[in-house]
Amino acid sequence: MTTNIYALVLAAGKGTRMPGKKPKVLQTLLGDTMLACVHKALSPFLNERIFTLVGYEKEQVQKELEHISPKAFAMSIEQKELLGTGHALLSAMPYFQDVNAEYILVVNGDVPLLPSECIESMLKLLEKEAHDIIFATIEVEDIAKYGRIIRNSKDKVQAIVEAKDYDTKIYGEPSGEINAGLYLFSKSFAEEFLPQIKNNNAGKEYYITDLIALAIEANRKVYAMNMGKEMRLLGANNPIELSWAEEYLRDKRNKDLLEKSVILHNPSSISIGQNVEIAAGVEIFPNCEFYGNTQISEYCVIESNCVLKNAKIGENTYIHSFSHIENANVAENCKIGPYARLRPQAELDKNVHVGNFVEIKKSYLAENVKANHLSYIGDAKIGARTNIGAGTITCNYDGVNKHLTSIGEDCFIGSNTALVAPIELADKVLVGAGSVLTKNVEENSLAITRAKQMSFKKK
Ligand code: UD1
Ligand code: MG
Repeated sequence: MTTNIYALVLAAGKGTRMPGKKPKVLQTLLGDTMLACVHKALSPFLNERIFTLVGYEKEQVQKELEHISPKAFAMSIEQKELLGTGHALLSAMPYFQDVNAEYILVVNGDVPLLPSECIESMLKLLEKEAHDIIFATIEVEDIAKYGRIIRNSKDKVQAIVEAKDYDTKIYGEPSGEINAGLYLFSKSFAEEFLPQIKNNNAGKEYYITDLIALAIEANRKVYAMNMGKEMRLLGANNPIELSWAEEYLRDKRNKDLLEKSVILHNPSSISIGQNVEIAAGVEIFPNCEFYGNTQISEYCVIESNCVLKNAKIGENTYIHSFSHIENANVAENCKIGPYARLRPQAELDKNVHVGNFVEIKKSYLAENVKANHLSYIGDAKIGARTNIGAGTITCNYDGVNKHLTSIGEDCFIGSNTALVAPIELADKVLVGAGSVLTKNVEENSLAITRAKQMSFKKK
């Protein structure tokens, strides 16, 4: 690409048609925010040249940008007052000046399915021929509240008229062609014409879309690129439009996985994020949700209702129903659940068994460890082949600080043991059921703190 093009993602608005306080661009589809989806679509073309305009709840949006990439975060721009999409672009203009941009690709932050083909076609056209504006239009059955395209009798675009301002007496019946919210502007054109936009419309806002009529009036070169029925360009402004977009994405994602020989039982109930990697032959049961950078290796089986976020699962591991795994790694041949919870920094080595109602946080379980029932293991290191009895708790928190529990190899921790950290149990330790251990235990010892059993004859 010879021209110096930068992108601007408009993400400063609240989204009044979306319920709740969350900024609209932070609504998610298959676990990824709309904002992340838009950045993902743009980055193959404009990597590290993507500015994002923030405003409403800017800290929340910036946090998400940080999550997307450090560069995306560094390139956030604040729109101090939310006066409309035209004002949004105007607020960002000094930044394009600083980087010597020649063209600006502006995209609404609420177009989560943004197809790369559309961006590519616009950039290709620009490469062939300079324009002041190229923008994308689509043909829809329900024009809803989208901006409508006005063309003259020679089919040449004249203006975009927003739904609120559309008067059939002036413009006639709408054609069904709408503005997608994806534009390429020459920077010099935008600089000259943005200050001419007025807010004398129904929304009392400065509309970016008014640039079209201004350009036509001034005989500038404008091209409305009709993308036909490309529904992926539709903005998601309300829960219905968002659910439509998510449904589309789920269907496509699951079809791709099925084609790659992943077995999905009742795929319409399964949500798998775009960055999740699943090997061929993995079998997944209904109502599972896998998000973030989750990776699942060959021959794994994941039963129903499991939630995995940024989880790494080794070959041939079996995860029973209702297990939750987040920011945790599980090696090969493990058995997890049902109802297990692996929290951040849980590291399970080969052949570990973790059963029902076992919670593990920031702990390493070496090969062949078994913790099959009702336990909390936090800030711990457990040696190979050790058995953790039902009801064992690592008491890692003293109310102020967290402390470590270290258990050696080949230990047997009796049921209902409390290990008060910091504490170290060497190899081959046997702990009597019901003990509360507060002191370290040497190798090959039996530790027991239980009171002697007494029984008395009733009167
Ligand atoms: C916009 C277009 C409409 C088009 C539709 C496509 C305008 C005036 N209208 O309408 O022609 O059919 O998108 O989906 O642009 N934003 C800011 N700052 C602001 C206002 C909005 O950054 O001051 C951001 C929003 O966060 C959003 C994007 O701009 O991501 C578009 O705003 P939105 O309110 O969704 O516009 P639409 O009514 O959908
Ligand atoms: Mg919108």
